[in-house]
Amino acid sequence: MAGAADAMQPVPVADRVHWVGALDPDLRNFDIILRTANGTSYNAYVVRGSTGVAVIDTVKQEFTEPFLKRLEAVARYDELTTLVLNHLEPDHTGAVPELLRRAPHLEICVSPRGVQVLRALLKDRFDDYAVRIVRTGDTVSLGDQTLRFLTTPYVHWPDTQCTHLQDQRLLFTCDLFGCHFCDARLFNDRVGDFRFSFEYYFEHIMRPFKAYVVAALDLIEPLDIAMIAPSHGPILRAHPRQYITHYRRLVKSRLASEVGDQKTLLIFYVSAYGATSMMAGAIYEGAAENPDVRASLFDLQIGEFTPFVDLIEEADALVFGSPTINGDAVKTVWDLLAGLVDIDTKGKLGAAFGSYGWTGEAVQMVEGRLQGLKMRVPEKGLKIKLHPTDAELEDCRDFGRRLAAHLTGRMQPREVDFADL
Ligand code: FEO
Repeated sequence: MAGAADAMQPVPVADRVHWVGALDPDLRNFDIILRTANGTSYNAYVVRGSTGVAVIDTVKQEFTEPFLKRLEAVARYDELTTLVLNHLEPDHTGAVPELLRRAPHLEICVSPRGVQVLRALLKDRFDDYAVRIVRTGDTVSLGDQTLRFLTTPYVHWPDTQCTHLQDQRLLFTCDLFGCHFCDARLFNDRVGDFRFSFEYYFEHIMRPFKAYVVAALDLIEPLDIAMIAPSHGPILRAHPRQYITHYRRLVKSRLASEVGDQKTLLIFYVSAYGATSMMAGAIYEGAAENPDVRASLFDLQIGEFTPFVDLIEEADALVFGSPTINGDAVKTVWDLLAGLVDIDTKGKLGAAFGSYGWTGEAVQMVEGRLQGLKMRVPEKGLKIKLHPTDAELEDCRDFGRRLAAHLTGRMQPREVDFADL
C-alpha cells in the first residue's frame, strides 16, 4: 500500500490550496502509545497567493521525498515565500531540514514556544534562516490571500498554533481535530467511517489538555470556517462546525452535575491479606464524615480500570492503597497509575497508604509517582505493619478526616519531608 500512496498526486483542497502531504497506511502504532489500525496521514498544504506561496506544515522525515515531489508539482522552490509550522513534533517537521536546504530563503512562521523547538531542530543552522514569531492576530500576506495566526498552546505540545486562511474560510489546525486514519480519498465526506479514530485520538492526544482545548475552541468558534484542514486524517469540509461542537462535548465534564458542589475523593486499593483493605475502609469512613466530601471506595482486584477513567479525571482527590510485596507496590496499582498519563492530574490531592510485613516501601513509591503526576501530597502516607489494631484503625479514620479537610480548605497544606518516610 505504501508504494501506491507514494505515487499519489497533489490534491486540490480549495482555490489555489493543495494537499501535498503523505500517507502512512502501514503504521500500526504512533508515539509508541497509540494504536493505528489503518495507519495515518501527515497532511501538509501549499497555499498560493498573488505575491507569495506558503507551505503549511511538512511530514515525517521518512516521507520527505514524496512530500517534496508533490510540492514541486504545484510550486517552484524559488516561488515559496513562507513556511508555517503549526506544531514542531517530528511527524510534522521531519522534512523541514531538506525543504530549507532547497528553499533557504523561506520565512518560517512559528509560535513563541515553537521557536524553542525550531532552534533545537535546526541547531547551529538556526541563525541562517529568517524566523518570525507569530501570535494571535498576526498575519502574513500572500497578496490576495492572507494567513492569520491563532496561538493555541497544548493542542498538543506547548508550541501548537492554528492558521486561518481567512479569504477561503479554511482553518489549518495540525493535531487539533485530527485523527490517525489513512484514506487516500482525504475528505471527510468521502473516506471510510473514522468516528472511532476521531474519538480515540481525542482521548489520547487532547484529553490531558482539556482546558487548553477549551481555550483554542474559544478562539476558533467566532471564525468564519468552511473547512478544517488538520495534519492527520480526513480534511473536514463537510459540516466542519459539527466537529467543533463535538469537541465541545468531549471536553465537557460528564459527571459534575452528579456531585454538585461536593468535593470528590476516590480511594483505590489492593489488599493481599485484608489489612490494606481494613485501612481503606477506615480511611473511607473518616473522609465520608465530612458532609462536603463525596468519598468512594474501589477494590482494584476487579482488574479493569476503564470505568474509573472519567471518575479519576473529575475527582478532587485520589488515594491509593497498596501492600508492599517484594519491596514494591503491587502491579495493579502501578497499572492504574501508569494509565493516568491521558488525564490531567495536576493539582489534584493525592495520598498513599498500605500495610506491610517487613520494609513497607510501597507507600513512599506511590507517593513519588503522585508527585511525578504533579499532584499535591499534603499528608505523609500512612503505613501500618500487618493488620491494624483498633487504635491504628482510628489513625486511618483520622487520615481520611484530614484528607477531607484539606479538600474543603479547613486544613492548611503543610510540607512533607519524604526523606522521613
Ligand atoms: Fe501530529 Fe503532536 O504531532
